[in-house]
Amino acid sequence: MQAGATTQDASDKSALASAPSPAQTAQRIGVPREIFPGEKRVATVPEAVEKLIKLGFSVAVEAGAGDAANCSDDTYRAAGATVAESAAALWSGSDIVFKVRPPSADEVAQMRAGQVLIGFIWPAQNPDLMQQLSAKKVTVLAIDALPRMLSRAQKMDALTSQAGVAGYRAVIEAANAFGRFFNGQITAAGKVPPAKVFIAGAGVAGLAAIGTAAGLGAIVRANDTRAEVADQVVSLGGEFVKVDYEEEGSGGGGYAKVMSEGFQQAQRAMYAKQAREVDIIITTALIPGKPAPKLITAEMVQSMKPGSVIVDMAAEQGGNCELTEPGQVVVKHGVTIVGYTDLVSRLAKQSSTLYATNLFRLTEELCKTKDGVVNVNMEDDAIRGLTVIKNGEVTWPAPAPKQAAAPAPAAAKPAAAAAAKKGHGHGGGEAEPMAGSKLAIMFGVAAALFWLIGSSAPPAFLSHFTVFVLACFVGYMVVWNVKPALHTPLMSVTNAISSIIAIGALVQVSPWANAADRPNDLISWVAAAAIVLTAINMFGGFAVTQRMLAMFRK
Ligand code: NAI
Repeated sequence: MQAGATTQDASDKSALASAPSPAQTAQRIGVPREIFPGEKRVATVPEAVEKLIKLGFSVAVEAGAGDAANCSDDTYRAAGATVAESAAALWSGSDIVFKVRPPSADEVAQMRAGQVLIGFIWPAQNPDLMQQLSAKKVTVLAIDALPRMLSRAQKMDALTSQAGVAGYRAVIEAANAFGRFFNGQITAAGKVPPAKVFIAGAGVAGLAAIGTAAGLGAIVRANDTRAEVADQVVSLGGEFVKVDYEEEGSGGGGYAKVMSEGFQQAQRAMYAKQAREVDIIITTALIPGKPAPKLITAEMVQSMKPGSVIVDMAAEQGGNCELTEPGQVVVKHGVTIVGYTDLVSRLAKQSSTLYATNLFRLTEELCKTKDGVVNVNMEDDAIRGLTVIKNGEVTWPAPAPKQAAAPAPAAAKPAAAAAAKKGHGHGGGEAEPMAGSKLAIMFGVAAALFWLIGSSAPPAFLSHFTVFVLACFVGYMVVWNVKPALHTPLMSVTNAISSIIAIGALVQVSPWANAADRPNDLISWVAAAAIVLTAINMFGGFAVTQRMLAMFRK
C-alpha cells in the first residue's frame, strides 16, 4: 500500500503528463480538485482508492483535491494513489476522470479523445456542455442519468446518497438557527415542549430530514403529493398529514406531477394551518424539469411564531417559499429562512465518502474482468442509462430500461424504504410474508402432531394443551407486531396481567367459603403470601409500564 507514498517525484509527474496508456493495459483514474466556487466535495476518498487499485486501476489525485473534505494528499498516497501537482498533469495523464460537478469550459478544453468522464452532468440543463464534450470525442457517464428504478443500480445512485446527506444537513441547519431544544424535556428549571417540524415533500431528502428530526426528539409531520410515501413517513417516526382533496400525485418514474388548481388550494389551506402550529418547516418539494412549486406564501411566513425557521432545500430551483433568497440566510417577519444551495457540500467528508462508494460500485460494473480496463457496455441497462456520450456521439436520452426492478411507486425511493425497514426490524410490522408452501407444510406437521397427542392423552391434558398452544400463538402475534423499543413496557404489562393468578389465591382465603370447603390454615397462609407477592408484581408491572411509556410521550 505504501508503494505510492514514495512516488511523489518528478518522474511521477512526467508519467501523469505522458501519453495515454495503450488500450488493454491498466487504465489510470484521475481525480481533479473541484473548482466550482464553494464546492468542498471530492470524487474519491482514500478508502475507495484502495478498492479501485484492487480492480486493477492506478489512481492519481490532484494535489489538494481532498483538503476541504478532510482527505489530505498523504492519506491518498498511503492508499496507493499518486498525487499530481497540477490540474493539467492530472487531466492529460488520466484515461478516466472522476468528478463531482459538471466540468467547466476550461476543464473540457483539457480533455482528449477517448477519455471517459464520470460525474454529475445534468444533460437536460447543460446542452452547451454536452456539445463541447461531444466535440472532444470523449465518453461521458452522467451519474445523474442513472436509471434509479433498477434495483441493481441502487448501489450507484449518487442522487439518493447526496440527497440523504442534504436532508440530514437541512435539519442540522434548522437546529442551528432555532433557539430551542428539539426534544421535550422536564428539567428542574422548567418543562420544555418538543419542537414541531413540518416537512414538505417526502422524497429522498425529505425522508432523511424526517428521520433526523425525529431522532433529535422533535414532533415531525410531513406531506407529499404522492400518497404512497405515507407509510415511509410513518416508519421513520413522522406523521403523514393528508391534503383534504382526492388526486393522484404520481407523475411516473417515482416523481411528482403538477397538481390541479383545486388540489393546490386545499394544500395551501393545510400548509397555512401547519405554518401557524409548527416551529420549523423544511421544504423539499420538486417536480423534475419544472420550477419548484411555491408552497409557503409570504402570509404563511408572517403567521409563524417569532424565532421559527424555514429551510428551503428547493432554493436552487426557485424555492418552495416565496421569501427564500437562494444561497442566503435571511430573517423575515421574525422567521429565519435558510436558502443554502450547498447543503451536501457542507458535510463534505460524508458526502464525498458516499459518492466515492457510488463511483467505485459503478467502476466495478464497468470492469467486471477486474483487469483495470473499463468496458462501457451499452447492452447493460444501467450503463446504457447513464452513458450520455459515447466516443463523441450523443446517446442521451437513453430509452427506458427493459426490466424495471419493481412496480414504479414502491421502487421510487428504495434507499429510504430500505432504511425505514432496517431501522425498525420486525417491529415495523414489515415481516416477510411466509411462502405458501412452507406455511402449508408447517400447518400439516402441527396438525399431525396434535392428532397424535390427542389420540393418546387424557381429555384434561388436551384442553390445557389447546389453551397453551393458542396462548403461544396469540402471544407471538402480539409481540411480533410491537416495536422493539416498546418490548420492555409490553413485558411489564403482561407481567402485571399474568399476576391475575391472585384470583386463585383469593379463592383459597375467601371468608365466605363453606366451612367444609375451607382450606386448612397452612394453605390460607401460603395463599395470603401469594396475594402479597403477586400484588407487588401487578402494581410494580403497571408502574414500570407507566414510566416507560412516559418516556415515549411528547
Ligand atoms: P425528489 O424528487 O426525490 O423529492 C421531491 C419530493 O417532493 C417528491 O417526493 C415529490 O413527490 C414531492 N413534491 C413535489 N411537488 C410537491 C408538492 N406540490 N407538494 C408536496 N410535495 C411535493 O427529490 P430529492 O432528491 O428528495 O430532493 C428534494 C429537493 O432537495 C430538491 O429540490 C433538490 O434539488 C433539493 N436538494 C437541495 C440541496 C441543497 O443543497 N439545497 C441538495 C440536495 C437536494
